Amino acid sequence: MVEEIIPELKINDLGHDGRGVGKLNGYTVFIPGTLPGERVRARLVKKKKRFGEALLEEVLDASPHRRKPPCPVYSECGGCQLQHMDYSFQVEFKQDRLVQALYRIGEAQDFPAPRIHAAGKEWNYRNKATYHLQGSQVGFFSRQSRRVIPHEECALLPQEVNQIKKSLADLLKQKIITSGKNFTVRTSFSHQQSLLILDQSVKPGSSWEKVTTILRKENPELLGIYQQGKGKREGRGIWGKSMIKEKMGDYTFELGPATFFQVNSEQREVLLERAKKIVLDLNCRNIGDLYAGAGVFGINLAKHVDRVLAIEISREAVAEGKRKAQHAGLDNIEFHRGEVERVFAKMPRELDCVLLDPPREGCHPNLWQLIEEKKVKNIVYISCNPATLARDIAELQPLGYRIETLDLIDMFPQTYHVECLVRLCR
Ligand SMILES: C[S@@+](CC[C@H](N)C(=O)[O-])C[C@H]1O[C@@H](n2cnc3c(N)ncnc32)[C@H](O)[C@@H]1O
Repeated sequence: MVEEIIPELKINDLGHDGRGVGKLNGYTVFIPGTLPGERVRARLVKKKKRFGEALLEEVLDASPHRRKPPCPVYSECGGCQLQHMDYSFQVEFKQDRLVQALYRIGEAQDFPAPRIHAAGKEWNYRNKATYHLQGSQVGFFSRQSRRVIPHEECALLPQEVNQIKKSLADLLKQKIITSGKNFTVRTSFSHQQSLLILDQSVKPGSSWEKVTTILRKENPELLGIYQQGKGKREGRGIWGKSMIKEKMGDYTFELGPATFFQVNSEQREVLLERAKKIVLDLNCRNIGDLYAGAGVFGINLAKHVDRVLAIEISREAVAEGKRKAQHAGLDNIEFHRGEVERVFAKMPRELDCVLLDPPREGCHPNLWQLIEEKKVKNIVYISCNPATLARDIAELQPLGYRIETLDLIDMFPQTYHVECLVRLCR
């Protein structure tokens, strides 16, 4: 397509991914890096039947919420989408996204305004990053393609993670590492420990020993290097431990390379406290922690309630949950490994509250019938995707569930991702 200059376009709205939206003679155009109320000059780079995509050329009239993005690769890198918005406007945007999803997809009518828990830390908050390798480049994928955009330091990550990335990038340049697709760094905010997880294709030039010696010297808090296995095969430790400690609520968990944990350690505590308060204020005694991970919610609730039933698919996470419960002397939490939609069906007990914390895809559709059969009165639904949350709420409403409270916990400043907690009651 021949790229076309749009000399002037008014931005009216924001799409779900934070891109500005304007109308060009009735035709919808998305432009990243623009804000509602702005007039911009743009270059149309993709023209589809129902909408087009353009790149910002010049801001003609700027929004009062515009700010200079601190990251030098912001306009290219796909990691962040909202750095050009001041932080309070980012939170407003997320609140609007959540409310609109509940109205439009969830067909919810009466629900309270979300309680907002803005992040205390706008920067350096993430405890995990996955980097991609391309030739001698290391970084995140571009906004438009799977091209790797290298960077010096990522402002969302703490210094330890940036330093491990730098060491790996140097090893790649010096051919001490010769190939690979990606690697992940996980770091603990409570214990100053990091774990490096290499994908199975990462190969050393001469020996792992050489790689390990350099990485350890440059990164004193590195606790272990682990390499994932091919396909579903088990991975292996290359050096050191394959777990890091992280405090969550009242307990310290040991987390392996495959166990889920929330990427924002500070805001995870806010989420945990909020979930705990809801369950305890309702005086629930028998609770379900579904999509439990290592049982962070269930374990932190166990000493306050009669029984907890935790269901999770990951073997590694269940093993950690069981180990933690035993270590903490909690004999009223039961872990079951498997798919929630299958395992929950076999559970005879009635529960007075279930916590649901599914992945982005939301809950399995078979779950609603089971929740109804088990006469669950209260649901605490934790979601990182307003669209699938709203879709699931649309299934729950005809069963008699209503939204009682709504919390937006900003786990992901500078990005369009939204984390929220909804309490539903029947
Ligand atoms: C968003 S994480 C939440 C984990 C945990 N609640 C926490 O905060 O640490 C979702 C979890 O659901 C698990 N999972 C995904 N699909 C599942 C399924 N069908 N049945 C059970 N667990 C599932 C994943 O392994 C992951 O641990």
